[in-house]
Amino acid sequence: MKSQESILIKSSIGFNQRFPKHRGWLNMAILEVQNIGKRFGVAAVLNDISFSLEEGRVLAVIGSSGSGKTTLLRCLNFLERPDAGRIIVRGETLYNSADKSSYTEQSIREKRLHFGLVFQAFYLFPQYTAFQNIVLARELAAKKLPDYQKNRKNILLEIHRDGMQLMEQIGLSAKKDFYPYQLSGGQQQRVAIARALALKPDILCFDEPTSALDPELTGEVLKVIRSLAEKNTTMIIVTHEMQFARQVADMILFIDEGSVVEYGPPKMLDSPSSERLKRFLERY
Ligand SMILES: Nc1ncnc2c1ncn2[C@@H]1O[C@H](COP(=O)(O)OP(=O)(O)OP(=O)(O)O)[C@@H](O)[C@H]1O
Ligand SMILES: [Mg+2]
Repeated sequence: MKSQESILIKSSIGFNQRFPKHRGWLNMAILEVQNIGKRFGVAAVLNDISFSLEEGRVLAVIGSSGSGKTTLLRCLNFLERPDAGRIIVRGETLYNSADKSSYTEQSIREKRLHFGLVFQAFYLFPQYTAFQNIVLARELAAKKLPDYQKNRKNILLEIHRDGMQLMEQIGLSAKKDFYPYQLSGGQQQRVAIARALALKPDILCFDEPTSALDPELTGEVLKVIRSLAEKNTTMIIVTHEMQFARQVADMILFIDEGSVVEYGPPKMLDSPSSERLKRFLERY
């Protein structure tokens, strides 16, 4: 039910406050993925994947090892080129396999900015501090602004102010000048999250953000992701943390052998309609 009530609540509490889960919401889809297909040689890794995601919502992608989850995220981030399908963000077609002009190198570089990606293995720049890792990309982008020379001081001030805010958000203000080797895995992953957020992507993607971490460090990273969900950050999270997916995700996409088998709210995990999801969940 996309109720009047939900509009009223939304306008009275303001956009950035967490909205009660699973209530009808009148947002348009921020992301539409239509019929994505991807092959590596003769192997079809993704088949006809379609789903949409509303702004401020969290989608968890689950599935067995080798089912195509990472490949899907890589396609969305234009690190792989899908053989078929379309990717539409805020109504703008960013990728259309049938239209070659949608995937020139230059246009892909710009389109990539719509997505942020946090990998399992952090990939921080080892020669830069936590803070520098977070602000670097924006500093580089700022240099290309036409008014950079004139407004350099103010532009950098803003970037650094935002960077400090992000350090605070991930609970690492005190370690801003630490190098990656001086941080724990969980702390490095939090820096990687802040680095992705610094570019203000429309959609933040995570590929098993905690699977390289000890259980005690997993908690602190999940806490940061949970707080982002509370601020209505649109996210796609590939995860094996089933409990976390249930609690944080608004929608769950179950992929098996490169195809969407089930797609729905987390309650679908309580009563899977397919044998394949049932079998997958039995492992948890
Ligand atoms: N660059 C590539 N070249 C050839 N095959 C690839 C390539 N990347 C992925 N694959 C294949 O695509 C399939 C899906 O891989 P993918 O990494 O997307 O799975 P996944 O669901 O992320 O698995 P996991 O849970 O283990 O991370 C696998 O069979 C893999 O071997
Ligand atoms: Mg993977």
